Amino acid sequence: ISAEDLSQAKLQLSHAPSEVKALAQTFNHMLSRLSEAWEQQRQFVSNVSHELRTPLTVVLGYLHSVLRRSNQLNDYQKEALETAAGEAERTVRLLQDLLDLARADSGYIHYHLEPVVLNDLVLEVVGMAEKFSNRFLQVEQSELIEVIADRDRLKQVLINVIDNAVKYSEFDQAIELKVERVEQQAIIQICDRGVGIPLQDQSRIFERFYRVDEARARSTGGHGLGLAIVKTLVEGMGGSITVRSKLGEGSVFLIMLPISSHQMIA
Ligand SMILES: Nc1ncnc2c1ncn2[C@@H]1O[C@H](COP(=O)(O)OP(=O)(O)OP(=O)(O)O)[C@@H](O)[C@H]1O
Ligand SMILES: [Mg+2]
Repeated sequence: ISAEDLSQAKLQLSHAPSEVKALAQTFNHMLSRLSEAWEQQRQFVSNVSHELRTPLTVVLGYLHSVLRRSNQLNDYQKEALETAAGEAERTVRLLQDLLDLARADSGYIHYHLEPVVLNDLVLEVVGMAEKFSNRFLQVEQSELIEVIADRDRLKQVLINVIDNAVKYSEFDQAIELKVERVEQQAIIQICDRGVGIPLQDQSRIFERFYRVDEARARSTGGHGLGLAIVKTLVEGMGGSITVRSKLGEGSVFLIMLPISSHQMIA
């Protein structure tokens, strides 16, 4: 039984001795208590994130506005404000991630699914990522591919995976994006030649707060929520994500998405 199915889970016994039936009843009672506790926890995370995000966004706004007029500040003051703004930004991002996951858990994420020309969207995201990271990203796409997806959510997915590729590889190691179509699916590959992921961690990196090497992870920042969100969003759009990786050699993330119906071969 996974956490998602807790509310529906129930033992049903029709022909069983009364002791076993009583046991099943106790078990069912425990399941429903667990389901309630799980729901309360989700609500709590969601409420706290929301309550914290609002004032923190105000703080961040003020910090930025003071920093914009930084000609009256000495070096120490400027550095202190920059550090404060950086930490505030990081926390706002964490809270936004937690809110997204809480929404997804309670089924409140609405996907605006529509035909999206993948090629254009990939180029747009790559352009943004290049500016932000100061890295060159190679793009390989031969044919025009239209998928069914939520444009903004798909951008969020790609930004997260590219962010990892940048974060977990060195400046001079190539990053490559390939877009192709295999039967009724579009496949986006994000390849890096960075640190790679040990086999035993590959299935766990999509879990919340899971990070491979805590020591290294601390220096790269982040909270281990990126891929959990990516997986939720991709699956929410009817797709899937997998990883292939070798320690020290790099990683390839494969995102599969359904192509739009008028591109399908009957
Ligand atoms: N391209 C990659 N190369 C090597 N390791 C990776 C790569 N992508 C993810 N990982 C590993 O998987 C872990 C989980 O990734 P995830 O994106 O969920 O979290 P994060 O990047 O640590 O933090 P966040 O995305 O919340 O800022 C990372 O901490 C890292 O150890
Ligand atoms: Mg990440």
